[in-house]
Amino acid sequence: MSALPGSPEAAATTGLDDSQVLPAPIDLPPLTEQARIEARQIIARYPVARSALLPMLHLVQSYQGYVSPEGVALCAEELGLTKAEVGAVATFYTMYKRRPTGRHLVSVCTNTLCAVLGGQRIMDALSADLGVHHDETAADGSITLEHAECLAACDYAPVVTVDYEFYDQQDVESARALVAALRQGEKPHPTRGAPLTDFRGVSRQLAGFSQHADEAAAATAVDAPGDYEPTLRGLRLAAERGESAPPMRGPEAEPADAGEPRETVRPAGSTGETPGQEAADARVAAADTPAEKAGAAGAHPDAPEPAGRRLPDGREGTDTPAGREPGTGGQGPDGPSRTIEGRGPSRRR
Ligand code: FES
Repeated sequence: MSALPGSPEAAATTGLDDSQVLPAPIDLPPLTEQARIEARQIIARYPVARSALLPMLHLVQSYQGYVSPEGVALCAEELGLTKAEVGAVATFYTMYKRRPTGRHLVSVCTNTLCAVLGGQRIMDALSADLGVHHDETAADGSITLEHAECLAACDYAPVVTVDYEFYDQQDVESARALVAALRQGEKPHPTRGAPLTDFRGVSRQLAGFSQHADEAAAATAVDAPGDYEPTLRGLRLAAERGESAPPMRGPEAEPADAGEPRETVRPAGSTGETPGQEAADARVAAADTPAEKAGAAGAHPDAPEPAGRRLPDGREGTDTPAGREPGTGGQGPDGPSRTIEGRGPSRRR
């Protein structure tokens, strides 16, 4: 059996049994022009180009099974970001894989409720069967195993997901049987939700492209039957007792002074510019393409605050106290600063 190219598991002693498994998905195709076209389609969905980065990273994974250096470069080029900026995002979220992923990603919840009901025992058993530990891929390329924090399905604990589809109320034997079936190329139906595809397929869906052949197939997947009994039990009890949640409050009125922003205090002896602003100005000026320019402008410190962020007192902006933002050394609450009133207490120019 071949391990995925580039995977450190390729040389690992795995302890896998000798049961038949399907060939590993060893092809890691280069990103094609089609991938670039689809990346631009994702960018077009957003008013600010860099907002497209997260689904673009899923798109890269749908082609190559992980966020490859080639994928990082493509995202950086299309968004007008540096590769370091893309890498900083890709390495922050656990859904973005830094090494080639197996055909399926098996996630075992080992958080509190699942753990006390056997989640850790499941993880240990699968780890022994596959000869891998957390975030490693079996030598046959079939499975990447990971432990996961709470998968938001505690009422079905212990929970295992495969490519983010749920297999509820597992135990050691049922989880071992599930993984054995996956290694044989079978796709056991999740206990609820859409039918199982594979890691690349679900990555394509997370990028915002259908992984189904047509709309009918997509509708069938969305409406797939499942056992929702535990999750709905509280709702049914409330209905029986005539209990309901209090009504939602409507949007609050705009504050009376939320008009044109106005400057207040200018730092003594300062031009009002910072090295960060000057660098951001330079990035905007140097952008070659509209996409790059939009990305650089969106990342500029003076870019408008995204809509929809409202503070408890009704104003928009961040609730970080003025002078406490990271990277504003020397301009703390005791030093002069320039803010924009009516747009939030910490907006600094
Ligand atoms: S603790 Fe496992 S799903 Fe919440």
